[in-house]
Parts: sequence; C-alpha cells; structure tokens
Amino acid sequence: MTTSTEAVGGLLSQVEDFEAVYSNADGDPSCIPWAKNRPDPALVNWLNNVAPSLIRSGARVMVIGCGLGNDAQALIHRGYDVTAFDCSETAVNWARRLDPSNHQCYHVADLFDLPLRWRHRFDLVVEIKTLQSILPERRHEAMLSIAKLLSRHGQLLIVCKGIDAGQSLEDGPPWPLSRDDLLQAASSADLVMSGDIAEFLDDDQPPVHRIRALFKRG
Ligand SMILES: C[S@@+](CC[C@H](N)C(=O)[O-])C[C@H]1O[C@@H](n2cnc3c(N)ncnc32)[C@H](O)[C@@H]1O
Repeated sequence: MTTSTEAVGGLLSQVEDFEAVYSNADGDPSCIPWAKNRPDPALVNWLNNVAPSLIRSGARVMVIGCGLGNDAQALIHRGYDVTAFDCSETAVNWARRLDPSNHQCYHVADLFDLPLRWRHRFDLVVEIKTLQSILPERRHEAMLSIAKLLSRHGQLLIVCKGIDAGQSLEDGPPWPLSRDDLLQAASSADLVMSGDIAEFLDDDQPPVHRIRALFKRG
C-alpha cells in the first residue's frame, strides 16, 4: 500500500492499490487482510438492537466501500433495498459472484466521483472501515461525499478503527481516527450526532479498538 501524501496522485494510487489487493488475491478471500467472510459484528449488533426502531423495512440503504459484500448481503437479507459500491472492479465482480441473485445491487464507483442519481437518496448509509482507508487529508472531502448520499432524515452509520490516547499515527492505510477526528470530519460536512458513540475492542485477534457512531444531517 502506498502512503503517498500528494492528494490527487495519492488518491489515484490508493484506488489502484485496493484493486491490486483484490486482483492479487485471485479469488482467495484469506489473502485480503480485512475480509472476514461475515458481516461486521458491530453492524449486526446495531441492526439487531437499534435499526428496528429507526429504519423501516424496505428502506433504501447504501453500503460504501462494500468489498466482497458481506455487509450488503446482511442488509439485503433483512429486507432493505440495498445499493453497494466499491472502487475495485475485481471486488465488485467478486461480490456479485458471491450473491448472484442480487448482483444488480453491486456497483463500481469512486467515493469521490459518485453518480448524481444517488444524491440524497438513502435512508441509511453504512460505512465500515472505508473512511479509515482514505488519506487523512481527503477525509473532509470523503465526508462531504458521504453526506450527499443521505436523504433529509437519513442516518449514517460509521464503524472505524479508533486511535488510542497517545498513540502516534502510523503510516496507513488504515489511518485510525480518534473520537474527535470523527466528530470534526462529520461536522465539517454538516452532520450531527444521532445517538451515542460506542468505543470497544472487537473480536479480531489481537482485538482492535473500534468506534461506532451514528450521524444525520444537521
Ligand atoms: C478496508 S476495506 C473495507 C471493506 C469492507 N467495508 C469491509 O469492512 O470488509 C476498504 C474498502 O474501501 C474501498 N475503497 C477505498 N477507497 C475507495 C473509494 N475512493 N471509493 C470507493 N471505494 C473505496 C476499497 O476498495 C476497500 O474495499
């Protein structure tokens, strides 16, 4: 993975780097460091405990940076009307193969150049471990792009790697976020908190500090 900090060139090579990870895996998910062959547990927990009182069945849901599609599949199975995208064509084709009856839900798209038809369309936007993959200097732009997907009363669920107090920022990706980083990025895109921020250790080995937060348009 490149750690270039030159904004546009960095972004281009980031997209190419993600594509290379998926294509070099050659169909073997164990070669993709973040692929777990299951939906994200923090998403599942939120879907079980919070979503039923907040998001109606059949609501339009967008999954950002969907990778192999495990989160999108879980949302589809719960009766939501799901659209999912990733910048990697190989990942999207792989996700379609894993979920052939819903292949039309998966799209190749770049977060920084999204189709206009998606603007303000979604009741729930789900972002799992993608914001942490974006160069920190593009985080504000990424949040603006994400915010534009939300309908007037839409909710944005973010799950990302948290930074521990006193921890120096390692060369990413990923670039973990502090609670303040996340709140700042959200407010720079006119988003406000819509519930508590949860910080926890996940069930990876070794466990990883994660943050789960919910936002809506201000
Ligand atoms: C760390 S992976 C997480 C994948 C998935 N959300 C998961 O939790 O397994 C980050 C994903 O974001 C995608 N991604 C990175 N930059 C992107 C961009 N600019 N537009 C769309 N997808 C992007 C990558 O291809 C990759 O699939």
